[in-house]
Amino acid sequence: MHNIGFIVFGITGLLALTSLLPGMAVRLKLPYSVLLAVAGSALGLLVAARSYMPEGVMATDFLTTLADFHISSEAFLVLFLPTLLFESALAIDVRRMMNDIAPILVMAVIAVVVCMLVVGFTLSSLSDFGLIACLMLGAIVATTDPAAVIGIFREIGAPKRLTMLVEGESLLNDAAAIALFSMLAGMLLGGEEAAWGGLIVDFLVKFLGGALVGAAMGIGVCYLFPLLKGFVSAEITLTVALAYLSFFVGEHYFHVSGVVACVLAALVVGSFGRTRMSPRTHEQMEGAWGQLGFWANSLIFLLAAMLVPEILRGTTWMEVSLILVLYCAALLARLVVVGGLLPLLTAIGVAEHVDNRMKLVVMWGGMRGAISLALALAVVEDPRATDTLRDFIATGVTGFVLMTLFINGTTLRLIIHWLKLDRLSVLDRGLRDRALSLAVEEIDDEVRTIGRREGLEATAIQAVTARYAPQLAQLRKLRERQGDLMLDELLCVGLAMLSAQEEVRYFENFKDGIMPRRVVATLLTDTGRLREAALSDGRVGYQSAARQTMRHDWRMKLGIWLNHRLGFDRLLAASLAERFETLLNRRLILEEMLNFSRERLTPLLGEETAIEIRDLILERGSAVDEALSALRLQYPDFARELQSRYLGRIARQMETERYDEWKERAIVGGEVADALSHDRDLRWADLDRAGQLDVALSATELVERVPLFAKLPPDKRAAIARLLKPRMTLPGDGIVRRGQRGDAMFFIASGAAVVLIPGKPVELGSGEFFGELALLTGQPRNADVVSLGYCRLLELESRDFQNLLAGDPEMKRAIEAVAAGRMARHRD
Ligand code: CMP
Repeated sequence: MHNIGFIVFGITGLLALTSLLPGMAVRLKLPYSVLLAVAGSALGLLVAARSYMPEGVMATDFLTTLADFHISSEAFLVLFLPTLLFESALAIDVRRMMNDIAPILVMAVIAVVVCMLVVGFTLSSLSDFGLIACLMLGAIVATTDPAAVIGIFREIGAPKRLTMLVEGESLLNDAAAIALFSMLAGMLLGGEEAAWGGLIVDFLVKFLGGALVGAAMGIGVCYLFPLLKGFVSAEITLTVALAYLSFFVGEHYFHVSGVVACVLAALVVGSFGRTRMSPRTHEQMEGAWGQLGFWANSLIFLLAAMLVPEILRGTTWMEVSLILVLYCAALLARLVVVGGLLPLLTAIGVAEHVDNRMKLVVMWGGMRGAISLALALAVVEDPRATDTLRDFIATGVTGFVLMTLFINGTTLRLIIHWLKLDRLSVLDRGLRDRALSLAVEEIDDEVRTIGRREGLEATAIQAVTARYAPQLAQLRKLRERQGDLMLDELLCVGLAMLSAQEEVRYFENFKDGIMPRRVVATLLTDTGRLREAALSDGRVGYQSAARQTMRHDWRMKLGIWLNHRLGFDRLLAASLAERFETLLNRRLILEEMLNFSRERLTPLLGEETAIEIRDLILERGSAVDEALSALRLQYPDFARELQSRYLGRIARQMETERYDEWKERAIVGGEVADALSHDRDLRWADLDRAGQLDVALSATELVERVPLFAKLPPDKRAAIARLLKPRMTLPGDGIVRRGQRGDAMFFIASGAAVVLIPGKPVELGSGEFFGELALLTGQPRNADVVSLGYCRLLELESRDFQNLLAGDPEMKRAIEAVAAGRMARHRD
């Protein structure tokens, strides 16, 4: 029975079974994994009962094949884990995750440790399984499977940040739990010594080492993408190879956590890689990975659930009560984290406030899934495990997973309903009605125009438009009296519609190749945030979210830091270029939004609301203008380049449309059309490359811009340039803080800074300097100095400052004269 034909028969039979389940799950309104568990257990029962079935029939053969499956413990880990992890990490929006990385990391790592400790100590105090075995069980059940909760969150329109938190937490807690599990398993099964101090260090080394290996391999693959010449299947294949290679290479050659390596590799490919692979690959890659993930998830579930009847048959009352204790302990651990840690994170300002009802859903929805089962199966199939340990882990984990599925999984929807989270609020209803009316009105207009243009009979046109009559009547009613909404609510609805339209326009521009992907990704995320903020906090929320979209992101800050500390300027240049482009594109769409609000929103929401919305758009527009002009001031050439690129992309799009039309109408033949397209691609080959912004001005170049140095002979200037360190600051960055000890002074090579003297701030521009007083007098800094625009500074450390002055009496006099004037003004 062991020939390969039967193995294929068994696996494909299982796949055939799984293909029937998703549809059934939707019909029964149950989470998919619950149905998988039921199907698997039923299959397990049939496998056990196969001796009563006639031999030689296909069904009996199938069951016997399943009974004979022997998948080794390693196979479970090596075969299934990389796929499961890579797939879920790939689906994560890394930019969004990085915005909330602090709460996600804290939630993930602490949640795992809390769960491991609570479960471990509770069980070991109540049973005679050793502490390590109990801790291991705790680590196994610490992984959460977010699929069900996230599915429901999407349906009820929960805030995106909450969804991100749950998704990110589950991904990272998988990594943390598996890393802990591997170490505990090493101690328990491999006879490694238990040293708790070393354990923590070891854990950190493995975790961080895994992250490094994974990130490095991910980046390597991203650099390989362009060599594959846009072959979609080749690119996808490379990602599959990466999933397994990062896992294996990390584990085997670097002795770090393969799981973490795999997750990091996926995060790198999912973020940085997206801009490097061909645009078509993107969607197909998601499809391919979705498929692989579905197979891995379904097979693990079925294989594990098939063991359920056998495990339960031998289960004693003692074990049943242990599972109950385990269930309560894990729930308690989740309660501690969601009920205690999350509010704490909110209180210190790193996480958003989460509604109590949502918290309950996050806690109750912490179901466990394929990863817990795979880890348990790995122990069960390990020849080094004793029978008692095997029973303990198999019964504990399977029983527990089933309980979370059957108790939490089946009641999650009821709870959501009971908490009234699934009801459309007045606001949502208002939004839906108006969005619908808007769409219907547009379609109605368009249908009539097409009908007339094509010379169709009036009655034929009417037959079509009549179908929209009820909605149009409703629209009229909405216009007469602004429906059931108050003025504030109308504004919320209007802002949400505005954001939706903004999203549509970004997306259309992206599809037409007018806006590049990386820019659109940021713009879409920002707009999503604006919409959520408007719906939850109206005008105030919208304004504060708008301000947030203007902030410099973590990449820019990291870029500044790297540039300052290590002289590495690539990241800074790339993030500045991206910000520039993002602002420019946002500016263009905001202009369109003014029209949209005048033409479409005014009739739908009334004059008063539309004016408020217009003012908010204008407010955003002027913030964008301000930010743009700060950048333009510093990089005028790049600003021009961006504008001509934008226009170039529009030109390319027009060209494309024309050729497509010619081809469609057979004005030109296929070959000519191809040649034209080829010409077009050559002409515009440089359009899609990310813009290069030159931030790497050397100290020598900058020194020339400071009048104090410009007069010096070249050799002296070169000597000074060696002492000065170039540094860039962003608008609003504090450079010098009042009251601090001074260890350097600064020359402004370009840009401007403001000295915040109470009541009479002083602006300093290109060529001027500051921070000299503290160095001359030895007193603390006497004022805050803040960067006004994008400033390029030259920093001179205290020791070099003293040497410089000692060797150049003229410069000493010049600086001291300015300093004396400033001090005198201070005394006034
Ligand atoms: P320091 O005291 O080291 O740090 C704050 C700096 O602000 C100070 O040096 C001066 O360089 C600058 N500063 C203080 N007062 C004035 C002023 N009235 N005009 C211009 N710059 C000033």
